Amino acid sequence: MAKNKYDVDEVLTKEFHKGHLKQLLKYILPYKKSLFISLFLMLLCSFMGLICPYLSKLAIDTAIPNKDIKFLFILSAIFLFAMIILRFCIKHRVLYMENFGQTILTDLRKDLFTHLQSLSPNYYDSRPDGKILIRVVNYINSLSNLLTNGLIDLICDIVTLLISVGFMFYLDIRLTIIALISVPLVITILTIIKKFQRPLTQTLNIKDSNFVAFITEQINGLKVIKAFVTQNRNINIFNKLSTDVVDISLKSSKLNFLVWPSVENISVFVVSLIYIIDVIYFDCSIKLGVLSAFITYFWCFWSPIMNIGNFYNSLVIAMSQIERIFEVFDEKPLIYDTDDSKDIDINEGSVEFRNVNFSYDEDTSLIKDMNFFVNPNETIALVGPTGAGKTTIANLISRFYDVHLGEVLLDGVNIKEFKIESLRKQLGVMLQDTTIFSGTVMDNIRYGKLEASDEDIIKICKLMNIHDFILSLKDGYNTVINEGASELSLGQKQLISLARTLIADPKILILDEATSNIDTKTETLLQKGLQPLLKNRTTFIIAHRLSTIKEASKIMYISNGSILEFGTHEELMNKHGAYYNLYTSQNMNLQYS
Ligand SMILES: Nc1ncnc2c1ncn2[C@@H]1O[C@H](COP(=O)(O)OP(=O)(O)OP(=O)(O)O)[C@@H](O)[C@H]1O
Ligand SMILES: [Mg+2]
Repeated sequence: MAKNKYDVDEVLTKEFHKGHLKQLLKYILPYKKSLFISLFLMLLCSFMGLICPYLSKLAIDTAIPNKDIKFLFILSAIFLFAMIILRFCIKHRVLYMENFGQTILTDLRKDLFTHLQSLSPNYYDSRPDGKILIRVVNYINSLSNLLTNGLIDLICDIVTLLISVGFMFYLDIRLTIIALISVPLVITILTIIKKFQRPLTQTLNIKDSNFVAFITEQINGLKVIKAFVTQNRNINIFNKLSTDVVDISLKSSKLNFLVWPSVENISVFVVSLIYIIDVIYFDCSIKLGVLSAFITYFWCFWSPIMNIGNFYNSLVIAMSQIERIFEVFDEKPLIYDTDDSKDIDINEGSVEFRNVNFSYDEDTSLIKDMNFFVNPNETIALVGPTGAGKTTIANLISRFYDVHLGEVLLDGVNIKEFKIESLRKQLGVMLQDTTIFSGTVMDNIRYGKLEASDEDIIKICKLMNIHDFILSLKDGYNTVINEGASELSLGQKQLISLARTLIADPKILILDEATSNIDTKTETLLQKGLQPLLKNRTTFIIAHRLSTIKEASKIMYISNGSILEFGTHEELMNKHGAYYNLYTSQNMNLQYS
């Protein structure tokens, strides 16, 4: 699988289609009540706004010429009432819409996050973190405008447009026909702009996500950057990626900017045309009040057209982001429960690989026809050179990846028959790259079993002989660890991580280089504590340092994705093979050190 680097543009697998709108509608429909209330308030606003020009017309053409004070007073009262209602509706509409939009975004973000958690490690292997992050945070945020204002404004704009046209027809049919001639022109301009704008916004998203991917990588690798003094090189890359974003952004803004002026110029042109036609062809026969109200309604008609043009801009941008968001939803987990998956208890704890073949990509073969059987409650050590496939074996037992051929069996049952949650709850895997979350030491250990009490945690730490170490931290179990846990040494992180794995009390335990960074004195103490804890479970210990695997009942020497040697320490020593060489070389090293 090709690694998707920050400077590799992500090709969109599925362009925006109707299905995406349907998916989005699924999020909107549960809140249709809020949508209708907002819509109602908005329509009331539009209506109140729209009767005002007609009131002016009545005042100019009827009340003032006839000096009808009573009528003028009534018109003013209606005007005032309309304004009060208008202000009230605007305030409440904004609040409702904000609530409506934000609730939808929260639901969408939650589903996206849940879906991301369900995806298999392959998904994360194939793209930088930043490119995932930008979808959950930036793209969803940018839909906010569309959902809070855009959608309702659009409906209201259409209604305002229709009401305005209605009033225009009522005031003067001839002028209305002249005014409407401009509409096809606007539609043509918008269509042309759309043709260029869509690919630009898609490219902008791609460049944005490259940029975020690079920054995320740089933050994660800050110490290495400083150690190798590569800041200048990185600033150059940063400038290049940032320029890419700015260039495309500017191009896109220039295009966006064409929409408004085009529409505005056309509208000004039409207004002038109306005045000219009135003077030349209608001989100024149109009453001043009618002309003034008509022009006002024409602006009212034109303003929604411009808003729709604007909405259209946001829609094009939003569409390209919706594509990216729903692209994640379209991504299916490679490992999932089927209707036949069951909750299965691992009672004994035997582990078997039967003719297992596996590789991370199609081009190479890693695990080749591997067969082994581990008895319940045995402790097996996996040793072998770097890149031999030890962690891969752990990945396959945990079903982070599925075998391509063959079977992995626990208690004689293929792991594919287990519900994933049921399988993982009975396995305890301490990964090679120790992860510590932000929170207290206690929180981090409890991550292994959320219902564990403080006493349970302290008990396991005492059994592991790490209680004193934890008490020696600033606030003992309540010591707060920041993201990345830079305040802890690697060995300390491993100890906390090991406690987290053991608190879950798994039937099958996999420790991948669990103590590689722990000093030999602490390790000896730890191993003493671990012995009783490993008694009633099948354990795989992966280690380069052979002192770690002293207590293993059998040793499996992995080389090039195959088992080269398998047996007890004595058996393998007598064989004088790869394990013998490894053991003797480490002993020699120990003697000389
Ligand atoms: N997620 C992955 N995607 C693609 N290739 C991978 C992935 N993980 C490991 N590999 C490759 O698979 C091979 C075996 O890796 P594995 O991590 O199993 O080795 P290992 O025996 O655990 O090595 P080490 O002792 O260094 O931890 C290596 O060549 C490695 O590059
Ligand atoms: Mg490994």
